[in-house]
Amino acid sequence: MNHQNKVSVVTGGANGIGRCITEELLKAGALVACIDTDLEAGRWLEGRYGAERLFFYQGDIAERPVLDAFTTEVIRRFGHVDYLINNACISKKGLLSECGYEDFEYVQRIGVTAPYYLTLRFKEHFATGASIVNISSSRERMSQADTESYTAAKGGIGALTRGLSVSLAGKVRVNAISPGWIDTTAYQGTGEAVAPVHSEQDRLQHPAGRVGTPPDIAAMVLFLCSDAAGFITGENINVDGGMGKLMIYNGDEGWTFEPGGKS
Ligand SMILES: NC(=O)c1ccc[n+]([C@@H]2O[C@H](COP(=O)([O-])OP(=O)(O)OC[C@H]3O[C@@H](n4cnc5c(N)ncnc54)[C@H](O)[C@@H]3O)[C@@H](O)[C@H]2O)c1
Repeated sequence: MNHQNKVSVVTGGANGIGRCITEELLKAGALVACIDTDLEAGRWLEGRYGAERLFFYQGDIAERPVLDAFTTEVIRRFGHVDYLINNACISKKGLLSECGYEDFEYVQRIGVTAPYYLTLRFKEHFATGASIVNISSSRERMSQADTESYTAAKGGIGALTRGLSVSLAGKVRVNAISPGWIDTTAYQGTGEAVAPVHSEQDRLQHPAGRVGTPPDIAAMVLFLCSDAAGFITGENINVDGGMGKLMIYNGDEGWTFEPGGKS
């Protein structure tokens, strides 16, 4: 897959899955513009790969002036965009925690409005064969209690993916990835990588036999951006170790239903 000198924009690219996407794109020869609130982690990453290949911009993508300034600077520096990776999102929980109006709306601005607005700002600057990859979640389709702010944002970005794939038909391919449980421990902060620890139950409950890692998601991002995925657009691909395919009823898989309980 040839990503040489492809101009890539990654939101939330300083930690976790986003950092892994940033690093894998850089290793594949791409140029990355990364926006993140975490200045320390961003500067550390920039120092590691060099500011000529990794342009780090500190800012909160929930804020329109930040998006305006960031996109202007990206176009000034690089002239066009090949890949837009809408990765950043947060949770402010939900109904049971009394997530209020401002918190709920803030999550939607990060998870849905920013991906839309970045696409709008870059609309005239996407290169031929450009690709957008939106990071949704398996929680778009399945829920635990008290997760509405996050679940709504993930449903929103999934629907946005479909809509944009049609509006940008023939110009930009637009796909989403829905990760399951991805352990990001090894991709946080500025220190040495810490190996994640999981129980046997954590691993074995996944049909794939393990918990996910950021490279599982980055590999799919690089594939979706590549010419090899040239016939794929409007898709939302689960990368969840098969968890979303495991049907459990009372008495299955060593699990007993207790109303209101967790066993
Ligand atoms: N880790 C998982 O198990 C998992 C599962 C499904 C989906 N996801 C999705 O993957 C994406 C990355 O998740 P992660 O676990 O790596 O998260 P993370 O918290 O480890 O990293 C997120 C990064 O985004 C940055 N960020 C957060 N809010 C921001 C904002 N307003 N403006 C700019 N930057 C901001 C943070 O500083 C951080 O660097 C998210 O969209 C998340 O919903 C993660």
